[in-house]
Amino acid sequence: MGYELINANSFNELESWPETTDPDANWDNGGGVHAIVTDPPYGVIEFMEENVEKMREGSGGVWRIPPELDGNKRNPLPRFTVLTDEDKEMLKEFFRKFGELANKVLRPGGHIFIASTQLLMHLVSEGFDEAGLERRDVLVRETKTLRGGDRPKGAHDHPEYSMVSSMPRVYWEPWLLYRKPFDNKLKENLSEWQTGGLRRESEDRPFTDLLEDGKTGKREREITAAANPEGDDSHPNVKPQSLMRELCHAALPLKEGVILDPFMGSGATVAAADAIGYDAVGIELDESYYQMAEEAIPKFTEISTPIEQRDDIRKTKAAQESTSLTDFN
Ligand SMILES: C[S@@+](CC[C@H](N)C(=O)[O-])C[C@H]1O[C@@H](n2cnc3c(N)ncnc32)[C@H](O)[C@@H]1O
Repeated sequence: MGYELINANSFNELESWPETTDPDANWDNGGGVHAIVTDPPYGVIEFMEENVEKMREGSGGVWRIPPELDGNKRNPLPRFTVLTDEDKEMLKEFFRKFGELANKVLRPGGHIFIASTQLLMHLVSEGFDEAGLERRDVLVRETKTLRGGDRPKGAHDHPEYSMVSSMPRVYWEPWLLYRKPFDNKLKENLSEWQTGGLRRESEDRPFTDLLEDGKTGKREREITAAANPEGDDSHPNVKPQSLMRELCHAALPLKEGVILDPFMGSGATVAAADAIGYDAVGIELDESYYQMAEEAIPKFTEISTPIEQRDDIRKTKAAQESTSLTDFN
């Protein structure tokens, strides 16, 4: 299958998909998807139309436009501290509803890897818990950002506060790991639905919850900037291929199945799945980001990372190449 991209609101789109009931059916015909790997709008409001317009105009709203550093343009950052109690209620409801839809379209035992932020992940968790999903872990993506760690606002030069920061500097990003519950033993679920476990890095090393060196590279940003139909800004949240390939690899325990990203952005998850030989479906609401993804995905796929050099992935690719040669003959 490769990959399929859909320009839609994922809530409406997933609502229209059939309930997952049949392990032998296709993903779009009742077979469901095997995993969801996604980086959603963390605070929900930052990707609402009005805030996206403000970000594109460079004039704030929920987005802070950081000053250039050493002549390098930096990405806008959403300010989650401005969320009101009402926004937070809406956010919890957004993730509860999304959790219910995930429960519907996933196979039993299918995992959800979902990016979040320290300030709001408890609300995502509350929504997912209420939707009946099973919490499994919080993955730590090492990012070393320049966010946080500032001296008290309005008193930067105050000698008494020179040793004070209002918040820690942010060096990691949380990724919540949830799973759709299943009734059987894991080995039975693996056999029936091909889901429930995580793929190991190798026979000797399991997938671990510490994702080191997770910073987004310059290459990924350049690709999205070049694919932007609205100008030359990169996608504000583009994720690195090495991280996304690591997660996609872990998401399919038997290397079989379809990975869904319902908040696709520039298409980093879809490209990562494709690069390691997996099928994927991406959904994006914003027309410009959808067009960006169409163009960026084949370029992301060409990026080389240490992940696809692993034996396990090399074997998948070799098997696929020999099948396609047989097809050709
Ligand atoms: C954090 S970004 C994802 C970035 C992506 N990981 C990448 O590497 O480019 C979230 C994306 O979700 C999209 N989005 C927000 N609400 C949506 C919805 N209801 N349905 C589909 N996409 C949505 C936004 O337009 C945005 O591009």
